[in-house]
Amino acid sequence: MLAEKFVKSAAVYIILGMILGIYMSATQDHSQMPTHAHLNLLGWVTMGLMGLIYKNWPAVAAAKFAKLTYWLAHVSVIGLTIGVGLLYAGMMEYEPIAIISSLIALLNMILFAFLFFKNA
Ligand code: HEM
Ligand code: HEM
Repeated sequence: MLAEKFVKSAAVYIILGMILGIYMSATQDHSQMPTHAHLNLLGWVTMGLMGLIYKNWPAVAAAKFAKLTYWLAHVSVIGLTIGVGLLYAGMMEYEPIAIISSLIALLNMILFAFLFFKNA
């Protein structure tokens, strides 16, 4: 169940990432390249990979805090996409959004690694 939720979310994020990529190509404005890259890499690649890993190691997926990694992953992707998007649109005053989301992304990976080492 958790694995499937990760893969479903990853599929939604890659669609959004591709729409942004096509928009960048169509307008020949690549200024949001890092936003596009991280939406795809954290949303599609990282969340998709976490889904496949949870599918392969059900004991890790069943761990008490595994569900928390799912919600923190969403907060990281959405927060980093908005935060990085605003930064590359020149709105530097919103930098804390990118900073906080990136720290949440890091904390989430530490939690994921911990759950894996403990339960796999
Ligand atoms: C419809 C699909 C996609 C389109 C139209 C598209 C379009 C683009 C464009 C226009 C750029 C900017 C290139 C530049 O200025 O150098 C770019 C960069 C990038 N895209 Fe995509 N993209 C697509 C899908 C993806 C996917 C699925 C991923 C990841 C899994 C991805 C990862 C990246 C990365 C990492 C960069 C930065 C590359 C670098 O550092 O030079 N893209 N993409
Ligand atoms: C906490 C999460 C992350 C933060 C804060 C972060 C930060 C950054 C920054 C500051 C850059 C330079 C952007 C620029 O060119 O101005 C960058 C580039 C890049 N990062 Fe990340 N990153 C994160 C996660 C990841 C992950 C998980 C992946 C791959 C799975 C990744 C792959 C890349 C790639 C391919 C580039 C070069 C493309 C680009 O310039 O946008 N990053 N990242």
